[in-house]
Amino acid sequence: MSEIFILLTLCHIRQVTGGWNNTQPAPQHKSEVKGIPIDCQDVWDKSRPSSGVYIIYPQGEQRPLPVYCDMTTDGVVWTVFQKRMDGSMRFDQSWQNYVNGFGNADGEYWLGLKNIYRLTMFGDYELRVELEDLEGTRVSAQYMNFSLSHHALNPESDGYRLHIGVFTDGGAGDALRLHSGHMFSTYNKDQDGHTQNCAEYWGGGFWYHPRGCAGAGLNARYNTTQPIQPAFSWTTWVDFPQTLRRSQMKMRRIPG
Ligand SMILES: *[C@@H]1O[C@H](CO)[C@@H](O)[C@H](O)[C@H]1NC(C)=O
Ligand SMILES: *[C@@H]1O[C@H](CO)[C@@H](O)[C@H](O)[C@H]1NC(C)=O
Repeated sequence: MSEIFILLTLCHIRQVTGGWNNTQPAPQHKSEVKGIPIDCQDVWDKSRPSSGVYIIYPQGEQRPLPVYCDMTTDGVVWTVFQKRMDGSMRFDQSWQNYVNGFGNADGEYWLGLKNIYRLTMFGDYELRVELEDLEGTRVSAQYMNFSLSHHALNPESDGYRLHIGVFTDGGAGDALRLHSGHMFSTYNKDQDGHTQNCAEYWGGGFWYHPRGCAGAGLNARYNTTQPIQPAFSWTTWVDFPQTLRRSQMKMRRIPG
């Protein structure tokens, strides 16, 4: 029953958000009527707070979800769904943990495939990847039309398939392109189409692909002990044996 309600709400949101832009007041979402934010954009619209951890409700009113909101980058609001900075959190996690989320919103975390999926159903989202190398140099990559299993009636059985659109280079290069269209895999759920278990080989779950597993190793092992093991990297910018220090994957709702 509540699932049906949520689906109807989603359809409603898609209709009412049609045709507004930055200069007009945003229409009320169903969630805002009840006073609960779906994503960081709603948090911002309510009280314009600074960046930090806030509670959002992409799964409905009974399911509060802590998330890091980035209110500053390029003057727009981003909902952060992956964050790494010091290797304190293990990312070689099970399918169930990648679906539900793990870590802490004020540290390293993965928001959870079911939550990311639900967010992308609330409208058109853009994906931004921000990276920092060991010397402190920062670059980014951006993709329009970010979604997971958008047309699947059962996103989990569709593998939370990645879709990304037009790329804008912020110095990182496009390491994610070959991942588009592929299912998410973990060490205990191998859906990569490769002869190898890519998640095990890279040391973390991701949308691995049959043509060489990965160009983007953002959930891969943080601390390499052996230089032959693929690790935390974005191969069009930092490739092993070099590794990244920090990453953030974040999404923002496009008005319109
Ligand atoms: C990686 O190394 C850092 C620094 O040495 C350490 O604090 C962290 O716990 C390590 N992470 C893992 C997953 O082993
Ligand atoms: C892709 O994103 C752009 C910009 O947000 C939007 O105008 C367009 O309708 C989107 N395309 C699809 C197929 O969703």
